[in-house]
Amino acid sequence: MFAMAALLVLSLLGYALDKELATVLRRQQIEQLDTKFRDIDYVIERLRGPEQWERIHAKLDALTPPDRSTQYWILSDDPQIRYGNALAEIVSFSQGARNVGELRIGDRPEPMLIRSAYFPASARHAALRFIVGIDSESYARTRRDFRSVLFASGTGGVLLFALIGYLITHWGLVPLKRLSREAHELSPSMLSQRLVVARLPAELSDLAQSFNGALDRLEAAYAQLETFNADVTHELRTPLTNLIGQTQVALSRERSATELVEVLQSNLEDLERLRAMINDMLFLARASLGERPQQLLRTSLAAEVEKAVEFLDFLTEEASVSVRVQGDAQAPIEISLFQRAVTNLLHNAIRHSPAGSEILVEVSAEERQARVSVSNPGPAIPPEHLGRLFDRFYRVDMARTNSGESHGLGLAIVKAVAAMHAGSVFAASRGGITTVGFSVAIGA
Ligand SMILES: Nc1ncnc2c1ncn2[C@@H]1O[C@H](COP(=O)(O)OP(=O)(O)OP(=O)(O)O)[C@@H](O)[C@H]1O
Ligand SMILES: [Mg+2]
Repeated sequence: MFAMAALLVLSLLGYALDKELATVLRRQQIEQLDTKFRDIDYVIERLRGPEQWERIHAKLDALTPPDRSTQYWILSDDPQIRYGNALAEIVSFSQGARNVGELRIGDRPEPMLIRSAYFPASARHAALRFIVGIDSESYARTRRDFRSVLFASGTGGVLLFALIGYLITHWGLVPLKRLSREAHELSPSMLSQRLVVARLPAELSDLAQSFNGALDRLEAAYAQLETFNADVTHELRTPLTNLIGQTQVALSRERSATELVEVLQSNLEDLERLRAMINDMLFLARASLGERPQQLLRTSLAAEVEKAVEFLDFLTEEASVSVRVQGDAQAPIEISLFQRAVTNLLHNAIRHSPAGSEILVEVSAEERQARVSVSNPGPAIPPEHLGRLFDRFYRVDMARTNSGESHGLGLAIVKAVAAMHAGSVFAASRGGITTVGFSVAIGA
């Protein structure tokens, strides 16, 4: 590419120089011709009698150099006036503007540049034409030489450009090659490795930085996945161990049919809890893969909250707490997802409220988001836990981890549902009141 660009530029330059040289040379030739012509023209104009022709011929003889690079001719019917070497050799004669033209003589390769003037017959002489010619061979040679120098230096220039271009590209690409080598060496076992940005030119350091940014995010996601895997294994193992233990105890001796039914029923409960937990994990996995709500329906959020409260009335009765719903907002939601989130929040509130207390559900509309917040009196959550409540398997009271009832997935699901509705989550615990909630986009 460098060589081609150089070829193009040098060709244009060479063409322009060649044209300019031709014009300059031509002008010089014509000036030379004019000077020579004027001397004789002057003499002929002032001719006094026929006896003077001899003197003119002698003068022309003297003016003609031995190499005949300048020649004079006088064409006339009068043999006394006629002058010029090799008159018979004239092959062609042409004349253009300013009386300048070309004249071709037998063996000469280049035509001569001529200037001529016609003098009509007068009392002093017969009609005649006076011609001065100069040899353009030396000019043609200058031009030929110039062209070959131009061609040689142009070719050299193009080759030099190609070489320099190659070296520049080669050196310029060294950092890129290093970068690509480093990128090749990256693997999941060395996730903390990054590309070295320090020694890179500005154009590449941007690229490397973005690439490192992508690696940061990948590493975080990878780490999260790994802990998630560990958590899942841990969470599944406990209930399975319980199930196996119970079954082994039941089988350790002869049991009556009623006893066996009891064991099976208790096992069934455990198995159902396991299934619920696996469903929750499946839901979270799909949500984190970017699953969207299937059909959004613009509806009253307070009405949906009321339905969820009604659905949980046996739980509220059991815990002897009451629920109050306040405010309303309209937003497009997928009803089953929304209900699931609200139910999870209510479950938590009911579980953590002391008997006889009131749970407050507030629905409010902001500029772009509708908020649902559930507040209940109860033990304060230390601030360091607040940010992590929505993580999978996170529980403030880790001692309850193996209770079998709480998996630490409820709020993670609330967060996923909020994200599916372009909303967010929030949690606060102040003055003995814990408030946890989420928002959904109101939409256009
Ligand atoms: N209203 C609340 N008051 C006090 N603590 C709460 C409240 N809501 C949530 N928490 C704390 O946040 C933790 C996470 O809640 P989350 O709903 O995700 O899990 P969980 O309730 O323990 O289990 P799951 O909902 O899966 O049965 C809970 O274990 C609890 O410690
Ligand atoms: Mg919960």
